Amino acid sequence: MDNRPIGFFDSGLGGLTCISPLLSAMPDERIIYFGDTARTPYGSKAPSTIKTFSLQIADFLVHRNVKMIVIACNTVSAVCLPELKERYPDIPIVGIIRPAAEKVAKTCNKGNSVGIISTKVTYKSGVYERLIHQLAPDIPIHTIPCPALVPLIEEGIIENEIMDLSIQYYMDHFLTYHKIDTLILGCTHYPLIRENISKLYPFLDIIDPAREIASHVQKQLTESNLLARNSDFENTFYASDLSENFVNMINRIFEIGKFRVAFKNLDLDIYE
Ligand code: DGL
Repeated sequence: MDNRPIGFFDSGLGGLTCISPLLSAMPDERIIYFGDTARTPYGSKAPSTIKTFSLQIADFLVHRNVKMIVIACNTVSAVCLPELKERYPDIPIVGIIRPAAEKVAKTCNKGNSVGIISTKVTYKSGVYERLIHQLAPDIPIHTIPCPALVPLIEEGIIENEIMDLSIQYYMDHFLTYHKIDTLILGCTHYPLIRENISKLYPFLDIIDPAREIASHVQKQLTESNLLARNSDFENTFYASDLSENFVNMINRIFEIGKFRVAFKNLDLDIYE
């Protein structure tokens, strides 16, 4: 048993979509979340910048005594999982891409046409295709970067015609041309527009990596004997810029009882 919290992080509020599935599966677990809202989006930045930011956040979470780190961000998982594991060899660190790749390999075959929408950095990394094809080389995979979607989501522009038009701008041709039947939401912000996508393209089977990671974490905590029981730690959400949108989004997607929201500017390096 281990009652320390699990650390989660993302460039902003997208990684919040990983929390509900995890807490539904494991209600005794407690979490510390860090959203780098001051520096979002990561998805069009240089991999070296993303690595610097991610190591800073991991240091912060480790300083808070987390028992595991979940990289609730595809972009970070795509470009700096090995560096994070190397820096903290004694802490389990879980990226979001592998569990989703395993799900695709298990549920799809060469008769499917799998599409992946993501940030530019995840797209350029080719990590999704590589991991899926290691497990199932025959599955046809097609990818497209959708860089305008994250800033709109961070702005809370979701149930809105502008969002629908932006989704169509990226996806109409992509889906038709490649005859996509299965879509991976390759960015943790995208579950927040899942309903828009389903409404526009009801024929798609949607795979949400934020859901896949919950069972992966549960398995790893169980195997390592790290599950929590009756922890009195209060779920805590840090943001590097405590924007109204961040707070609204927490209120919108959570029903997890008591939690605390706090501001933490990593550039000022203030440890409470
Ligand atoms: N939510 C992130 C991801 O899964 C990053 C989005 C961004 O900051 O561009 O890739």
